[in-house]
Amino acid sequence: MISNKAKKQIDAWVAKYPEGHQSSAVMEALKIVQAENDNRLTSDTIQAVADYLAMPGIAAAEVATFYENYNHKPVGKHTIRFCHNISCMLNGSDELITHLENKLGVKTGEVTPDGLINVKKVECLGACVGAPMFQIGDQYYENLTADKIDEIVDGLK
Ligand code: FES
Repeated sequence: MISNKAKKQIDAWVAKYPEGHQSSAVMEALKIVQAENDNRLTSDTIQAVADYLAMPGIAAAEVATFYENYNHKPVGKHTIRFCHNISCMLNGSDELITHLENKLGVKTGEVTPDGLINVKKVECLGACVGAPMFQIGDQYYENLTADKIDEIVDGLK
């Protein structure tokens, strides 16, 4: 359930913490395992992470269900994490999210019929100076406008 490649990546995170505190790597471990399992976590994959880190399954599940970084149902190839917190909201994120939903023909939380894109509303991503903004993968897109969104989304494959 956890590939050797993922185990090596997790081990690198575990090595950053004092011996016996391997569970401190749980957030990154969940992220790594999610990435290699269609970008989502199941109770089995969460338990596999817990077992690998020698921690209680419930503790890993608490982390996996608390943070917005983790998906628990099928998502598209690209997840657009659109911030709708205060700075982004004051700079038009609600209208832009509606624009994006209309462009894609899906509501927030749904996946486009081709399985390519889903949109998720998230809280502040720490890029308020560039509000309104969203994140796709590790990339931040800031100072968004409807035209910029169209250009970005049209470039997703
Ligand atoms: S409020 Fe959107 S990045 Fe902070």
